[in-house]
Amino acid sequence: MQQKDALDSIFERMLNQSRIFRDREVLQHHYIPNKLPHREEEIHRIVEVIAPALKSYKCSNLFIYGKTGTGKTAAVKYVLERLMNKSRELKAPVRSCYVNCRLAGTEYRVLSSLCSAVDVKVPFTGLATGEIFERLKDGLNSQRSSLLIVLDEIDYLVKECGDTSLYELTRVNESLQGSRVSIIGISNDLRFKELLDPRVLSSLSEEEIVFKPYNAAELRDILQERAKLAFQEGALLEGALNLCAALAAAEHGDARRALDLLRVAGELAEREGANLVTEEHVRLAERRIEHDRVIEAVRNLPLHSKLVLCSAYLLAKVDSSRATTGDIYGIYCELCKEVGLEPLTQRRVSSLLNELDVIGLLSSNVISMGRYGRTRRIRLGVGRSVIKEAFAEDERLKRLIDHVPRCLAASTRRS
Ligand SMILES: Nc1ncnc2c1ncn2[C@@H]1O[C@H](COP(=O)(O)OP(=O)(O)O)[C@@H](O)[C@H]1O
Ligand SMILES: [Mg+2]
Repeated sequence: MQQKDALDSIFERMLNQSRIFRDREVLQHHYIPNKLPHREEEIHRIVEVIAPALKSYKCSNLFIYGKTGTGKTAAVKYVLERLMNKSRELKAPVRSCYVNCRLAGTEYRVLSSLCSAVDVKVPFTGLATGEIFERLKDGLNSQRSSLLIVLDEIDYLVKECGDTSLYELTRVNESLQGSRVSIIGISNDLRFKELLDPRVLSSLSEEEIVFKPYNAAELRDILQERAKLAFQEGALLEGALNLCAALAAAEHGDARRALDLLRVAGELAEREGANLVTEEHVRLAERRIEHDRVIEAVRNLPLHSKLVLCSAYLLAKVDSSRATTGDIYGIYCELCKEVGLEPLTQRRVSSLLNELDVIGLLSSNVISMGRYGRTRRIRLGVGRSVIKEAFAEDERLKRLIDHVPRCLAASTRRS
């Protein structure tokens, strides 16, 4: 009975008008506001590049890059929607296709989305890439329209399967009569250009726009616009908003991060029945987000990487002064035996250590050992308790963590 009452009161709170939020949708990632402060210039340039499509001229291909959360996706979608509205108004034969290559997952799915943009049907699987291209070209030839393709997070496409399709795509116009294709590529990875064949790069980046990170003042303006729509009047302390902006600016000027902090702070305030979002809620939100990020990152690791991380965890627990690649490898081999897996080579493990460093779960620095050369000292990049919590989800790993002394004793004896 008591539990029922508790649940009822949660429902009540959800159903009653929130004291904190007016419209929480506005803080979601996919929401595109009517105004994008501090991106006026970038938006203007994108419009200039793609506007010729309205008159059936070929637009230049455009390559956009910048760190995550700098508004690339939002700006391009914003312009694309305006362009499509305008083309409907003018009855201009313009089509557009937006694909996020990371979410699409495979090259096949990216190409079949392009086909569906020109009303060409493609089975879910099974066609050779060349065949899909033929169908795409046939579709385009019968359409006589301008097709604007946006390949968002394009680096995933290339890392997954090379740049051959991209090359084909940049050359598609050569075999088209009456229609034309232009490409907008977007990448969060600034080094992506190095992966491309120079020919692909030069045709993809006929025009190029770099989105710079936002500074704290810019993030504050962005948050203020959103907060007006998202929060009830007077429910958000100005200091809380400023803190979200400052924290996100200190990281890398990421608007998504700033919005996440604001949303989670609001949710925490609401859950505790407060009628004001304060700096304290933002601090709690920061911790909550970091915590969830780590749990999620660990959950998605391949098993061998989990074992490598587990080795670093065990070592940190017992003897953090000895944490070289070799030490970790020794424990890792023990753990593999424990779970009945064939260990990878030390070289492979060393590259797994690098990957864990990149996502921030480990941090390593190279130290000099005098005449013995140099070695890497490896430490956990996040709190031990979070890692333990993440491992507790997995029966096998949970057991390994409890086996600490034996594993470590064995590896200590050996060395
Ligand atoms: N100038 C801006 N004004 C308002 N919201 C913005 C602005 N820039 C980014 N955002 C918001 O921040 C979040 C991340 O932006 P996004 O375009 O997805 O970044 P990117 O594609 O560069 O990683 C989105 O929710 C977006 O609406
Ligand atoms: Mg994006």
